[in-house]
Amino acid sequence: MNDSLLDNSSLREKISNLFVGGIVTQIVYVAAKLGIPDLLASAPMTAEEIAAKTGAHPPTLVGILRALVALEVLGEMPDRRFALKPIGEFLRSNPGWRTQAILLGEEYFRAAGDLLHTALTGEPAFDHIFGMGFYEYFTRNEAAASRFNEVMTMTAPLRYSDVTAAFDFSRAKKLVDIGGGHGAMTSIVLRANSGLRAVLFDSPPVVEGARRRIEVEGLGARCEFVGGDFFKSVPAGGDAYLLSSVMVNWDDERALAILRNCRAAMTVGADLVIAEYAMLEGRNYATSTYVAAVAALAIQGSHARSQADYDTLLAKAGFRIEKITPLLYEPYVLLHARPV
Ligand SMILES: C[S@@+](CC[C@H](N)C(=O)[O-])C[C@H]1O[C@@H](n2cnc3c(N)ncnc32)[C@H](O)[C@@H]1O
Repeated sequence: MNDSLLDNSSLREKISNLFVGGIVTQIVYVAAKLGIPDLLASAPMTAEEIAAKTGAHPPTLVGILRALVALEVLGEMPDRRFALKPIGEFLRSNPGWRTQAILLGEEYFRAAGDLLHTALTGEPAFDHIFGMGFYEYFTRNEAAASRFNEVMTMTAPLRYSDVTAAFDFSRAKKLVDIGGGHGAMTSIVLRANSGLRAVLFDSPPVVEGARRRIEVEGLGARCEFVGGDFFKSVPAGGDAYLLSSVMVNWDDERALAILRNCRAAMTVGADLVIAEYAMLEGRNYATSTYVAAVAALAIQGSHARSQADYDTLLAKAGFRIEKITPLLYEPYVLLHARPV
């Protein structure tokens, strides 16, 4: 068996990559946490200069920088200075993905590190490691909550760039954005539909962040902010209900509870719009999609659902699927359902 690895460097590289994925996450995390991409945005620097600015241990940093070169995040110039490559640009601060890299390297990484627990029990590894659920953790850790909300706000226009093309919100007068976070989706839909008003519903501290952000965007006059718990109830009176990136956070029992509360708040003529990370039957996805879907298992004990999963879940909650539209940013989809 080892002989085949000596003869076949491509096989060797593929197998080695299976073993080093977690270390790659940590290398990218260290670079982001130390702010190296932000630093190099002003000018290329030597390892010694980067170490002096970041407080890193110089000989160790050289190894990390060389790995970042191999990963095509950085380039090394003939004068030994390191510079950002296009991928490295993505790891700069907002609007770059620095915060995402930090979130993935801290809480997500620790939860993924206990995936065996989820594989053996079906329980979220996150709860096992941190002693509480994902969202409860955020209520107790302001810095982590702020990183999470920033990442949600920053990625929404990418995840859901074509959401307003996939569903016509102009028929509605009042949108209720359930689990709306800091309101990135509310903003996208309000901006595209000038006659629409919105209610943004999320847990009370999150709603306060949403209010500040939406007011800065100049949309405050068209938006109402309601704090609450979607496992208890959601605001009534909307004619379009939006659940974006909410379902994937919960196992079937709790996803059903949210849907039933939406159904109870909705009239028969209202629309339910689910924008979500989903894995539809018969489609092949990028490797990273299958790997990232495991994060939902480790963090929330849930999974990226198929159309059949949604058919079952929505029927149990009193809805019928009208249409599923794959969105541009795979594997996100928009699912339109109506009460039956
Ligand atoms: C993954 S985020 C999605 C945010 C936003 N909809 C988006 O697509 O960017 C899920 C949201 O659900 C909210 N949430 C979690 N538990 C909740 C609860 N029990 N009641 C209301 N909102 C909750 C979180 O605070 C978070 O903002």
